[in-house]
Amino acid sequence: MEGPTWVSYAAMWLATVALLLLSRRLRRRKFKLPPGPKPWPIIGNLNLIGSLPHRSIHDLSQKYGPIIYLRFGSAPVVVGSSVEMAKIFLKTQDVTFASRPKIAAGKYTTYNYSNITWSSYGPYWRQARKMCLMELFSARRLDSYEYIRREEMTALLKGLYASAEDPILLKDHLSTVSLNVISRMVLGKKYTDESENAVVSPDEFKKMLDELFLLSGVLNIGDSIPWIDFLDLQGYIKRMKALSKKFDRFLEHVLDEHNERRKGVKDYVAKDMVDVLLQLAEDPNLEVKLERHGVKAFTQDLIAGGTESSAVTVEWAISELLKKPEIFIKATEELDRVIGRERWVEEKDIVNLPYVDAIVKETMRLHPVAPMLVPRFSREDCQVAGYDIPKDTRVLVNVWTIGRDPSLWDHPNEFDPDRFIGKPIDVKGQDFELLPFGSGRRMCPGYSLGLKVIQSSLANLLHGFTWKLPGSMKKEDLDMDEIFGLSTPKKVPLVVVAEPRLPPHVYGL
Ligand code: HEM
Repeated sequence: MEGPTWVSYAAMWLATVALLLLSRRLRRRKFKLPPGPKPWPIIGNLNLIGSLPHRSIHDLSQKYGPIIYLRFGSAPVVVGSSVEMAKIFLKTQDVTFASRPKIAAGKYTTYNYSNITWSSYGPYWRQARKMCLMELFSARRLDSYEYIRREEMTALLKGLYASAEDPILLKDHLSTVSLNVISRMVLGKKYTDESENAVVSPDEFKKMLDELFLLSGVLNIGDSIPWIDFLDLQGYIKRMKALSKKFDRFLEHVLDEHNERRKGVKDYVAKDMVDVLLQLAEDPNLEVKLERHGVKAFTQDLIAGGTESSAVTVEWAISELLKKPEIFIKATEELDRVIGRERWVEEKDIVNLPYVDAIVKETMRLHPVAPMLVPRFSREDCQVAGYDIPKDTRVLVNVWTIGRDPSLWDHPNEFDPDRFIGKPIDVKGQDFELLPFGSGRRMCPGYSLGLKVIQSSLANLLHGFTWKLPGSMKKEDLDMDEIFGLSTPKKVPLVVVAEPRLPPHVYGL
């Protein structure tokens, strides 16, 4: 008898593919999925997603409702865009949605998902969160670093005074202060200081952080259409690998230095967060072993999380205020009344500055740093609002849309801090109409540090300086466009002129 010919091989292959497709179709048909646009073969709904995905998705949710089903290539995506949906995804069924999708950014830039942000739900991530709660961000530890935040704030104000009357790139100054604060808290010193024979210059390091945030948020085609992943059509994977090498060189140096100074010292007392992580890595009682690459991944997470977000938020706040000078006047009236004109604002003063606090909230409502939070991932088949959500679905909560929901906010597109005065709405994950830090198990673990830095920088910038647009630029000319990444900064960085408004001796600092 003759052996099978290529025709019979081809027929068998076609039959297998057809069976696979049929079984997938049948499986899908059994689900009652949320409404959404019809997907195209291969690309799914990617044709509807523009360069600002939160805005494209906002438009889709206006058409299809507060829960929609999309396909990014072959990847199923569900988006919740109302308070009710946010509550279900982040609270009622938080544990079902507490994982993260395995996307290229997590693989290439965070040591194969070894950091906190991109690690899947499980014992490794749970242990990481415990470390954050007990060790890294405990109130006691944050208080113990207050002197660092004060010193760096003073340096910021000094720098602004020195360049008073000249146009400055505000975000540069802001990210310097947050990078310095976080470097000293996490790494023990400013590793990027020019004077210290640094492994990387401050400018280069800030560029690395900008690139990290951008690459962590981009829609990499290979994550949606895995079989063309190897082509790296947008060049993002190449950039991720290059970036990861740069970070690794830096982190290796940091860990070597820390290990060197700990070597042979009995009962060494941790001086910074890297010390704490290295001690934990040696703890034999740790549930899941923390390896060297895990320490590096966590360290990078803390630096990245702590630097970019606060600078982005304060830059948006000053930009909004430049469009509405009457808010400047109200804020400075409050500052003059509560603080006086003879000193700077300290962290403990913030509770007495409700208007400045309201400006921060209003900025976070209109410009949430992560407009759709960080993607979550369903761990099992489940039901939400009568619809089926299959296992392994990416879940986005569009806080950008919730912040503009006219059923929650009067004149939602207007920047109006007064809406928060006398209202008990907070940003700490309990009030689902305002979730700049997310909520539930995956909520930002660094929120209290982030808030402290944002509130005290903004309060002091408003207290110490009158802010003007350079030259003949008018407030109508101010560009308020954004770029999308894991954070959403201004597309055109703000250039402003700071004029001192306190008596000269206060700037003696
Ligand atoms: C203005 C400041 C900040 C904002 C607006 C912000 C925002 C966020 C958001 C929206 C998430 C995702 C929450 C979710 O998935 O539900 C997040 C997660 C995270 N943030 Fe922040 N963050 C800020 C500051 C910080 C700081 C100061 C740190 C650390 C030093 C930090 C570290 C992290 C980490 C590690 C995660 C991942 C948590 C996890 O997946 O379990 N963030 N942040």
